Amino acid sequence: MGNIIIRNAAQVVTCSGFRGKRGRDMSDLQVIEHGTVIVTGGIISHVLHPGEPIPVNEQEYEVIHAEGKALLPGFVDPHTHFVFGGYREEEFSWRMRGDSYLEIMHRGGGIMNTTTATRAATEEELTASGRQRLDAMMHLGITTVEGKSGYGLDRETELKQLRVMERLSETHPMDVVPTFMGAHAIPAGWKGREDAFIDFNIREMFPLVAQEKLAESVDIFCEKDVFTQEQSRRYLLAARDHGFLLKIHADEIIQMGGAELAAELHCLSADHLLQASDAGIHALAETGVVATLLPLTAFSLRGPYARGREMIDAGCIVALATDFNPGSSFTASVPLLFALACIYMQLTPEEAVTAFTLNSAAAINRAGSIGSIDVGKQGDLVLLQFPSYKFLPYHVGMNIVETVIKRGEIVI
Ligand code: NIG
Ligand code: FE
Repeated sequence: MGNIIIRNAAQVVTCSGFRGKRGRDMSDLQVIEHGTVIVTGGIISHVLHPGEPIPVNEQEYEVIHAEGKALLPGFVDPHTHFVFGGYREEEFSWRMRGDSYLEIMHRGGGIMNTTTATRAATEEELTASGRQRLDAMMHLGITTVEGKSGYGLDRETELKQLRVMERLSETHPMDVVPTFMGAHAIPAGWKGREDAFIDFNIREMFPLVAQEKLAESVDIFCEKDVFTQEQSRRYLLAARDHGFLLKIHADEIIQMGGAELAAELHCLSADHLLQASDAGIHALAETGVVATLLPLTAFSLRGPYARGREMIDAGCIVALATDFNPGSSFTASVPLLFALACIYMQLTPEEAVTAFTLNSAAAINRAGSIGSIDVGKQGDLVLLQFPSYKFLPYHVGMNIVETVIKRGEIVI
């Protein structure tokens, strides 16, 4: 819980707001030129315009002179699967040779491959690799990350993954927001009994996870040959009864009406949406379900990109995430994320910044406490090597984050 003053930044890119911004509002970053930000006891206490006096005793604060540098809220990554065992480098070369994600899945690769390795890994091993991954993400300016279970697909391993995230959140500077994703794939032994596997999650897993408070949200992979729209509806409705917020992997590979279902159930977010229909996009806009787009996954799978431009023009609350996982997106490259979002999804740099700060905070129900530089929010900040946020997509693939501050303390 640090005290810090970041003085005279070329830009204080406040992204000011306490809820997700939709459509045109995403362009409004509320930049203060030559501004100063003060964090007291880990919380942002002052956001000052040039010329305003510093109203605290500077002796009690660390001071950063930020001339020529842009200051932004810490980045929020609202969709990852960062706790897992093993790797799938062989599948990557199969994909390069032309095999599709679903073909590899049918061969027993994909999520099931990682599930086998995650079941075999100890809690200590998963914690150690998870910690390294969080370190790497923090270097790129991420200060809060969502993480999903879903590489256990049995009682013991799902709980193990969630406990690893709980432990990491307590011991690593990064905040980890856990999501239960028991319905990520159909494990061997349940093939042909998908409805029974949904029932297992509803009857056994939801009460356990809720009771131990191991997750805030519940997610499902609504996809061809994985879970149907009807199974997803049943699972998510039951999750809501246990007090969980709802998320859905929607319309990633095949159009399944996932966006429509997310709107119908008023999910917190619908994620992927590469194949979302026009009606689905409008339904998301109307209901204020956050549309979380994952350009690194589209890039890695050589897929089409989600229609980010159209979604914003339709009035959606659009967020961005890395989808960091060992299969479809083995990267947390924030620099590449910004470049792809702007170059291929046609977001403006302003919209991309909103999508990976305030709107991504909204995608994990945190827009009231992180995702912008507003008085009262957590002192999570990143300082760039350059004087403008516009360098984020422009300096393609380069990490331009110089300093990362978490709750008022310098962590990078
Ligand atoms: O978001 N689509 C489902 N889940 C992940 C992929 C996980 C994996 O391939 O291991 C995703 O892309
Ligand atoms: Fe995912």
